[in-house]
Formats: sequence, C-alpha cells, structure tokens
Amino acid sequence: MCGIVGYVGRSEAAPILLDGLRRLEYRGYDSAGVAIVDGDRVETRKCAGRIAALAKLMAEKPASGSFGISHTRWATHGKVNDENAHPHFDASGKIALVHNGVIENYQALKEQLNRDGNHDFHSQTDTEVLAHLIGSIYQQLDGKDSKARLVNAVRAALKQVIGTYGIAVVHANIPDFIIGARRGSPLVLGVGKDENFLASDVSAIVAYTRDAVYLNDFDVVAVERDKFEISSLAGETGDHQVSKVEFTAEDIKKGDYPHYMLKEIFEQPDSVRDAMRGRLSLEDCTAKLGGLNMTPEQLRDVGRVVLTGCGTALHAAMVGEYLIEQLASIPTEVEYASEFRHRNTPMTPDTLVFAVSQSGETADTLGALRESRRKGYRTLGICNNVASTIARESDGGVYMHAGPEIGVAATKSFTSQLVILTLIGLLLGRMRNLSTAEGTRIIKELETLPGQIEEVLKLSDQVKAIAKKYVDVGGMLFFGRQFNFPIAVEGALKMKEITYLFAEGHPSAELKHGIIALVRPDLPSIFIAPDDAVFSKNLNNIEQIKARKGPIIAITSGNGAKQLKGLANEIVSLPDVADCLSPILTVIPLQLLAYHLAVELGRDVDKPRNLAKSVTVE
Ligand code: G6P
Repeated sequence: MCGIVGYVGRSEAAPILLDGLRRLEYRGYDSAGVAIVDGDRVETRKCAGRIAALAKLMAEKPASGSFGISHTRWATHGKVNDENAHPHFDASGKIALVHNGVIENYQALKEQLNRDGNHDFHSQTDTEVLAHLIGSIYQQLDGKDSKARLVNAVRAALKQVIGTYGIAVVHANIPDFIIGARRGSPLVLGVGKDENFLASDVSAIVAYTRDAVYLNDFDVVAVERDKFEISSLAGETGDHQVSKVEFTAEDIKKGDYPHYMLKEIFEQPDSVRDAMRGRLSLEDCTAKLGGLNMTPEQLRDVGRVVLTGCGTALHAAMVGEYLIEQLASIPTEVEYASEFRHRNTPMTPDTLVFAVSQSGETADTLGALRESRRKGYRTLGICNNVASTIARESDGGVYMHAGPEIGVAATKSFTSQLVILTLIGLLLGRMRNLSTAEGTRIIKELETLPGQIEEVLKLSDQVKAIAKKYVDVGGMLFFGRQFNFPIAVEGALKMKEITYLFAEGHPSAELKHGIIALVRPDLPSIFIAPDDAVFSKNLNNIEQIKARKGPIIAITSGNGAKQLKGLANEIVSLPDVADCLSPILTVIPLQLLAYHLAVELGRDVDKPRNLAKSVTVE
C-alpha cells in the first residue's frame, strides 16, 4: 500500500527511481512522484495516474541528480490528484518527504503547527503535515552538523506521530543524504557498492543489489553513498544484519506472458511442489515442519487452532478449518484478522494461532498477530515474504516458497497456503488419530498434485471459450460444499477483483434460503462440484437452478461430468483427487475464468481499480 524508492549513489537517480516504482506499482497506482536533488534545488515531478504518466512527465521535463526519493500512491487521505501526490514539502520548500501509512493525529498536528507559525498547506494529505512538522522542528534545532540536525528533527517529529509510517526524507542543502524510518509500514535498505537504496519492498531494488537490511519498527536510518547508520527513534544505535535476497531480478519478470496473473497461475505446478519440498516423510507418514519451533509434546498439547488472515489468505484459512478438523480432529476456527484484533475472542491456553499472509505485511493480520501474542498465545505465520514483519514477529511458522507474486489478485500463494495447511493438518493428525495408511495416502496424493495441476492448466482454452460466451453477464454466483465452499467464495473474490462484475460465493445449500431469488437467465451459477462425498447434494442444488432457467457452469471431476450432462451448460472436468485436496485443483479454473473474462472486458488485470496487493493500512 503505497511504494517508496530512494537512491543515493553516483548514477542518475531518475531511471533507478522510475524502474523501482514500476516494480512497486502493485502497492498502489493512484498517483506517483519523485524528488531529485540537483545542486541545492529539489526538483520534483508528480502527477495523478500510473507510473507511465510520471515517466512521460519526466521525459518532457527531465530531472537530473544522483540522489532522490520517489513514491507511488494508494490514496487514504485526500482525493487522487496532482496536489495530493507525493513528495510533499515543508514550509521552507527545502525538505521533501514521501510516506506510506496513515498519520492518525494529523489534524491535531496541523492545528498545532498553525498555532505556532505560518504554514500553507497545498494538499489534503496527512503526509504534508508531517513534512511541515519535520521542517518546523529542523528550524528550531541548533547545530552545525546539518545531517545530525535533520535526523534529530525527523526523530522528534515521529515521536509526536500517532499512526503508521514508512518514510524517506531529503533536504535540498544536504547532499547525498536520505533519511528513512518505519513504524508499521515496511522499509528495506539495499546495500550497494558506492550506492545505497531505500524501498518498501526488495523487488524494487533487486536488479541493483541483493544485499538488504530489513528495518524494524522505530528504526531510523541515515543513508549515504558509502555508508548507512541505523538507530532507534530514541537515538540508540544497534546491530543490523545484511541478508541476501532469495530471488533475483529474473524472477520478477513477466517473460512471455501478457500478465503477471497468468504467469503466476501457470507457475502453480512449481509453487505447489516448492511448498511441500523436503517437508514430507513417507517413512513416518507425516509432514516435517521444523519452522514451527514446537516440540512434539507442545504439538500434542494443542487443543484448539485459530486461523486468521484477510482476503484470499482468509479463504485459504477457511479451507484450513475443514482440513485440520478432518485430519487432526482439533477444533479450528477462522477469524477475519480485522475482527479478531479488536474483539475479545474467548481463547483457551492451549490455542495455537496461525496468521496467514502472502505479503506478511497486511496491517490487520499483523495487528491480529500482535494482539494474539500480547495475550500470550503461541502465534505462527504462514507467509510467502520471508523478510516480512509477520514472519519476523511470529513465534515460528511455515514459508510458502512460492516466489514473488506481483499480480494484485492472489493466485499461486493461495494454492501454496492450501498445501501448507494440509501439511499442518497431517502433522497434527499423525500425532493423534490419523493412521499410517491415511497419512501415506495423503502424502502420495500430495505428490501427484503438481502433475494434476499441469493437466488442469491445459483446460485454459476451454475456460477462455466459456469466458467469451458469458462476457455479457450481469454477474455470477458461486456455490460449493464442504472443502469447496471456501473455493466458491474465493472464485467470487477473483471475479470481483479483476472483472468488477458483481459476484457472490455461498455454500450450495444456502441457495434456497434467499439467493435463489437472484437466479435469472443472465446470471450464471458456477458450481464447484467435484465427484466427492457431497456430489449428489450439489446435484440437487444444480437441478433447483436449472428449473428456474439459470445457466450452470460446473467444475467437476471423475464421473461427475457424466451425471452433469444435459444439466449443466458448461462442464469443466478435472482429475480425481482426495476430497480434502480438491480445492487445490478446483480453484484453478476459477482463477482462469476470472482472468479470461477480465481480458475480454478489457480490464487492467494486474492492477485492478482501487486495489493494492499489500494493504498496510487498517
Ligand atoms: C489485499 C489483496 C488480496 C490479498 C489480501 C491479503 O486485499 O488485494 O489479494 O488476498 O490483501 O494479503 P496478504 O498479503 O495478507 O495475503
């Protein structure tokens, strides 16, 4: 949610900043801007719209200099226009600031600034207030060392802030010097040779360096060409580790695919394989998950599981509830992270909490994790981003190893989450009632999944033809039962996110409790009805819609296709798999359906309107 890139070195800053912003565009794409210091002038270019608009502006009016900061915005305070685009300046016009997060007390700070001096604000943003606050403190501080003075001004201003921030600051008269700071919004320092970088996410800078320092909350970093110093908000210096980024610039290229989303859908045979690699033990018929940091005794003592997350990760958690209860017979609940963090959920001391998050930065999921830990529950993460805040703040966890996911609509991270939740269910189950035979069966089925996913991907053209046929529909309903009820909800979310069509997902049987009133010829119902234990129940619901002239698109498997013939208008037939693993296959045609329909409708698949991939505000 909002992306920041900063550069200080010997090269021209502008192309590096623009390139980094393009890589961070998934974090927000309402407006963009740069501030590049040239001599003792801060050259700023900013405009509403995508990075492409900013690049055009910069081509018309170039800005030269070897250090600067930049930003791509997802609007929170103030509408989307040129004035509200970052960077923002202090009253002197010398200090430029870019910001990711929300300054909750910005009104009070603004009033305080207006009482104390002369402040003209040019935008409606909370960020501009912070820039003025830093500038006003900078004016009041003494000292010949202007670098130290600016660091102290930033620290003093941030101490007054209630809210979240990842920021980068430059001063027109302090050459080759950038300050970064974070609280609640991610910020990483890229360490190069005679050049250093700041970014919200390493993908912005991985083309230039793979050495990174992941900043912690309340860190303030002073970055120069050949050195950096990290201290706390209180002014103490501490140790910081330089880590190697685990992916390369190659991994974040689109290759021959027209969209990242399609690339990521097609990467699922590999990402699913990577999620289970080295984690299966046929000998003990179980899973090995050392990252949980729990002894067998502690795992055996788990009496309850709570799974929390947002969006697609929450839908994976919903499948996880069925999985863990089925495989391990442990009572499991799913909680929206945004609700869980603010309510007083009664919990038993033997509760194990999992925060599920691809990015590991989602503000509500992080809030839920912190609240859970504060209350003393062991809280683990299921994350893709290894250096993320959730990964670092949890008591342990399981990494997805899905590789970078750039498309805003989550695809491969979802199937990786499902694999990991299966492994957790298998591990907990084998410590309880799950037999060796059942454990072995699950492992064998897991191992065949990547090959089966390849088979499912071959249906992409069939799904594309369906998308073309239904391009004029007024919306879509999604239905499923048991393990595939959450897939109905996830299928509807994919559809909403990238086609902007109205879509809802429900348990199939709920149809007759109200939803059936919506059924009409231009509103297809997508039934996720594999040939499983509840297939015949789904069949009844399909009949009910058919009787009311609603078109049916069925996702099925095994003998399902035969029974659906003449009943469903379209049938997509998948390989057979254990009931509990079927969501890993059934979700793929739904990802493809949303994708192909969005392309048909001319939507911006990788950057759908109003969305951002990593939501770091509440
Ligand atoms: C945003 C994205 C969704 C994603 C959700 C949770 O809303 O648009 O695609 O599922 O955040 O993200 P996380 O990184 O926590 O899995």
